[in-house]
Amino acid sequence: ASGVKREVEETYIMVKPDGVQRGLVGEIISRFEKKGFKLTGLKLFQCPKELAEEHYKDLKSRPFFPKLINYITSGPVVCMAWEGVGVVASARKLIGSTDPLQAEPGTRRVSVQTGRNVVHGSDSPENGKREIGLWFKEGDYVSGYQLKHLG
Ligand code: PPS
Repeated sequence: ASGVKREVEETYIMVKPDGVQRGLVGEIISRFEKKGFKLTGLKLFQCPKELAEEHYKDLKSRPFFPKLINYITSGPVVCMAWEGVGVVASARKLIGSTDPLQAEPGTRRVSVQTGRNVVHGSDSPENGKREIGLWFKEGDYVSGYQLKHLG
């Protein structure tokens, strides 16, 4: 009804340095698990500048680009890949808006300062695939296993 395609998709979710510092990793993972999504990639990672620039290449011309790259490389991030029906849109809802004034209560993307939001989520299934390809290497991304939900 919402126009969202009900297909199995993949999304790249990243807890940014402030989220790691503030101890939000567990809560974020928990939200995805409770929704029944399948975890297909997970690691703590110190991101090199080149990878950050590649990940955010569409924002290269924006005035905040250098600030964004500085922030994302300022400390370890937690990289995740999640799979499921409608996971891209669902994740964006779970993590909230990047704009502190737009973010819904209870969502965790928000920070008091625009640009220091704590979670990144892919904005489309295509970008989900692209970003997972960027951040994970063969062996630390596993999608071919069965999730046996209890109850
Ligand atoms: S936009 O304008 O709609 O394209 O931007 P948006 O989707 O809200 O955000 C894209 C990513 O850019 C980051 N961002 C900023 N960083 C630093 N300073 C400022 N002013 C700023 N504005 C946006 C924002 O946090 C998004 O990062 P991710 O990692 O995708 O959440």
